[in-house]
Amino acid sequence: MAVQKDKIIIRGLSKTFYQKNKVVEVLKNINITVKENEFLVLLGPGQCGKTVLLNIMADLDKPTEGEVEFTDGRPEMGNLGIVFQRYALFPWKTVMGNVEVNQKFKGTPKEKRQQAAQKYIELVGLQGFENALPQALSGGMQQRVGIARAYATESDIMLLDEPFGALDAQTRYSMEDEILRMWEQDKRTVIFVTNNVEEAIYLGDRIILLGGHPTGVKKEYVPEMPRPRNYTDVAFLKLRNEIVNNTDLVL
Ligand SMILES: Nc1ncnc2c1ncn2[C@@H]1O[C@H](COP(=O)(O)OP(=O)(O)OP(=O)(O)O)[C@@H](O)[C@H]1O
Ligand SMILES: [Mg+2]
Repeated sequence: MAVQKDKIIIRGLSKTFYQKNKVVEVLKNINITVKENEFLVLLGPGQCGKTVLLNIMADLDKPTEGEVEFTDGRPEMGNLGIVFQRYALFPWKTVMGNVEVNQKFKGTPKEKRQQAAQKYIELVGLQGFENALPQALSGGMQQRVGIARAYATESDIMLLDEPFGALDAQTRYSMEDEILRMWEQDKRTVIFVTNNVEEAIYLGDRIILLGGHPTGVKKEYVPEMPRPRNYTDVAFLKLRNEIVNNTDLVL
């Protein structure tokens, strides 16, 4: 594989929250380099600071120390593909309305933005549901809307915060395949957060294991198995054991 260039460099990043009478040190000295077009998984237990880290990357929060460098320049606000842990859809907007929303804020003409939105609605397999409201959709379908909305920003960086965490197991497996299919079809730099070790191994080009108190990078793993990976392969199980033995994840 060709050498990929550095896309995002997280340097010496720490985050401490100062509350009324306590200091919460969440992240300490995180150093991660994300390569262009790689599928990077951040794997860590609940409450370890994954969302805090993603929010800092998205410029929704500031680090206490350190920095996040985007080698091609920081994407403009509203121009970063981000999928939130909860679906975060506008309940009064249709599927089309939700997917096109960032372009609408930016003032892209209606026809142009709806054309782009249509492309991503089809990419996530929701054609025919353009006029449906979120309440009429299953959890998996709502999360597809969230993913289409992130893709429709046309950002070449996608931040996904436990996007499948609220889905039932069967839907989760099929969404894992879907997100890989989309990534193959429309290559972007993906940072995918999860607390699920199997999901991390199934998806990742590279897995960054987070842990400790405060949270730091514990170790990095590169699954060598070709895709599609098989949960019951010996190599898969071996890597799973290796990660589990090195983690404070509750499994
Ligand atoms: N604004 C804030 N003020 C104070 N503490 C905060 C704030 N935001 C987050 N925290 C604390 O930071 C820690 C990490 O939170 P975060 O939501 O990033 O965890 P997480 O790894 O995303 O967890 P989960 O897997 O449950 O989503 C938590 O202990 C949380 O209470
Ligand atoms: Mg979180």
